[in-house]
Amino acid sequence: PPPPLPLARGRRRRGRAGRRGISGGTGGGGVDPAAVPGHSGRGTRTGDAMGQTVLLTGGAGYIGSHTFVALRAAGHDAVILDNFSNARGDVPDRLEVITGAPVRVYRGDVRDAALLARIFAENAIGAAIHFAALKAAGESVEKPLDYIDVNLGGLTALLKAMREAGCFRLVFSSSATVYGTPEVLPVPETAPRGYANPYGFTKLACEQILEQVGASDPRWAIATLRYFNPVGAHASALIGEDPQDFPNNLVPFVAEVALGKRAALNVFGDDWPTRDGTGVRDYIHVEDLARGHVMSLGHLIATGQSHTVNLGTGRGYSVLEMLAAYSRAVGRELPHVVAPRRAGDVAEVVADPSKAAALLGFRAEKGVDEMCASSWAFVSRRRNG
Ligand code: NAD
Ligand code: UD1
Repeated sequence: PPPPLPLARGRRRRGRAGRRGISGGTGGGGVDPAAVPGHSGRGTRTGDAMGQTVLLTGGAGYIGSHTFVALRAAGHDAVILDNFSNARGDVPDRLEVITGAPVRVYRGDVRDAALLARIFAENAIGAAIHFAALKAAGESVEKPLDYIDVNLGGLTALLKAMREAGCFRLVFSSSATVYGTPEVLPVPETAPRGYANPYGFTKLACEQILEQVGASDPRWAIATLRYFNPVGAHASALIGEDPQDFPNNLVPFVAEVALGKRAALNVFGDDWPTRDGTGVRDYIHVEDLARGHVMSLGHLIATGQSHTVNLGTGRGYSVLEMLAAYSRAVGRELPHVVAPRRAGDVAEVVADPSKAAALLGFRAEKGVDEMCASSWAFVSRRRNG
């Protein structure tokens, strides 16, 4: 088990029964635990006795829900705050099936200072992982103020609530988008930062806010995790990436081609300076990414040292290579057409993963075939309810 988290100052955990405003899962929501591969049937230790509670803002979302599972498996207690603007309402039920234990969820906005104060008062929060954000780069060009409001306002509200509660450990979801168009490949953490759209601007601004805040008080221990391209789903096929709107990213779009919802993948350019002319990215299995959060949090707890690391594999795959991997998972060739380049796209982005390996001992383990097979298992199961 991990070492106990330092508790928020002067906070006592209250009993759970009868607490208003928290909704848990309903014990399965029609999902049969026996049908879940890898489900142990045993209850997950909550760690309540040690007061180890991690707050996951945006914890019902794609990366947050997988990280919730990984934290529970590592023996941490966790509580979710999510407004479900980009998550399905049945995610808590599914998390209960996977973890075999109740899931505590606060439904609300991360910018709501009163709600945050209540969460810190009602739980012995030792650390927060801040996933909640708007994340569609294209949409951010149309709605920059919404992105600034949610992404910067959410972070500052959380930081203020944490400081008020005496909780100074934070893991932040950043992105390879802060590298803009990388000049050096694979990209090290020391590469110059930039942005190509308002979403990227907010991620860079959040990193800079965290630098200022971290420098202002030595009690802060802040992990900035720069994700490359997360894909795939949990082995249970109960949680995964579930876009509420149009699928902007490659793998969710390919999944819809596989489901028959779209005729063919539009390959955004085949004249890039890459091995087959299509864009190259560093795809990382979401379960590996989730494990990276647990390791980063462990490092914060053990050392109190802030860190900024890439979470990627160090290997790049082209659009056509990913389409081929997904076709293998589905068992038939999926169609594509070549379309014009997407505005703001870059040829290649691949992580230098060596710092995460040296500092955290983190190495991604799962390859693109596992990513695509688990994505397909999730979306085809979701299609059938
Ligand atoms: P997601 O949309 O699935 O998860 C975000 C969650 O936050 C959702 O459940 C949503 O309902 C919630 N949320 C949004 N606004 C909120 C608000 N105001 N108050 C409370 N909850 C709110 O996205 P994800 O892919 O899981 O991304 C998680 C984080 O990782 C984000 O910060 C994102 O910018 C970052 N990130 C994602 C990727 C990626 O490719 N998925 C890559 C790099 C960085
Ligand atoms: C996108 C976001 C970026 C975010 C990252 C990780 C944009 C402009 N950028 O980048 O901010 O940090 O996801 O979530 O949205 N592709 C196609 N057809 C498609 C979709 C994608 O050919 O329908 C290609 C793209 O041109 C690219 C590759 O697939 O070469 C991956 O695209 P995508 O999944 O959108 O990720 P990023 O471009 O890395």
